[in-house]
Amino acid sequence: MKKLLLGMILLGFVAMPVFADDSGGDIHYDKPVIGVLFSHASHVEEAGLDCDSCHNDLFSMEARAVQEEQDFNMLALSEGRYCGACHDGEMAFASSTRCASCHEGAIGFRRSLGLNDSGGRH
Ligand code: HEC
Ligand code: HEC
Ligand code: HEC
Repeated sequence: MKKLLLGMILLGFVAMPVFADDSGGDIHYDKPVIGVLFSHASHVEEAGLDCDSCHNDLFSMEARAVQEEQDFNMLALSEGRYCGACHDGEMAFASSTRCASCHEGAIGFRRSLGLNDSGGRH
């Protein structure tokens, strides 16, 4: 039931701003752990990557589809899959470092839903 509710909240609050931006926007993962952020702006505008560099076989153009894969985890990243295709310490910082760059955590995730972080303190 909680999951269903969360899903409905996600559809209502996250899908809108994401669909409004045709470059893909910000994508917030919550499986297997809550609070991983992928930013199209960082990758396309700042790092200057082409759409093709990820939208080949690596990622579909559907937010959070990949988190349904059983192996969307740190082991896969360290073996060069998913984000780890680039975050290998050569093309981009390694996925074994700078945890907080990718992991916005529960507070960041709640903020992305437009909820205040009543549980945490600044
Ligand atoms: C560095 C990798 C990367 C690059 C470069 C990239 N994307 Fe994405 N894109 C992703 C990821 C990751 C997802 C989410 C896939 C998932 O969660 O399964 C995504 C999802 C999307 C979505 C779906 C958004 C939604 O709300 O469902 C669209 C549309 C999209 N990208 C368009 C683009 C376009 C257009 C470009 C080039 C201007 C681009 N992307 C470049 C990684 C990238
Ligand atoms: C096609 C290669 C590629 C893929 C795939 C990719 N990244 Fe990146 N990413 C980069 C590059 C290049 C940079 C910029 C260089 C750096 O920071 O090392 C970057 C930077 C970042 C940053 C820092 C952004 C900032 O503003 O400083 C984060 C966080 C990040 N990526 C998360 C992710 C996550 C999460 C995924 C998987 C969902 C992912 N990336 C997939 C290439 C990629
Ligand atoms: C390049 C981005 C990136 C970096 C850096 C990163 N992670 Fe992750 N992490 C992910 C993604 C993507 C997932 C899967 C999506 C999710 O769980 O929300 C994930 C999932 C996880 C998980 C749950 C799945 C598993 O493998 O057990 C843990 C625990 C985790 N990360 C810990 C860490 C720690 C600790 C660090 C730093 C040493 C770190 N991560 C650095 C992107 C990253």
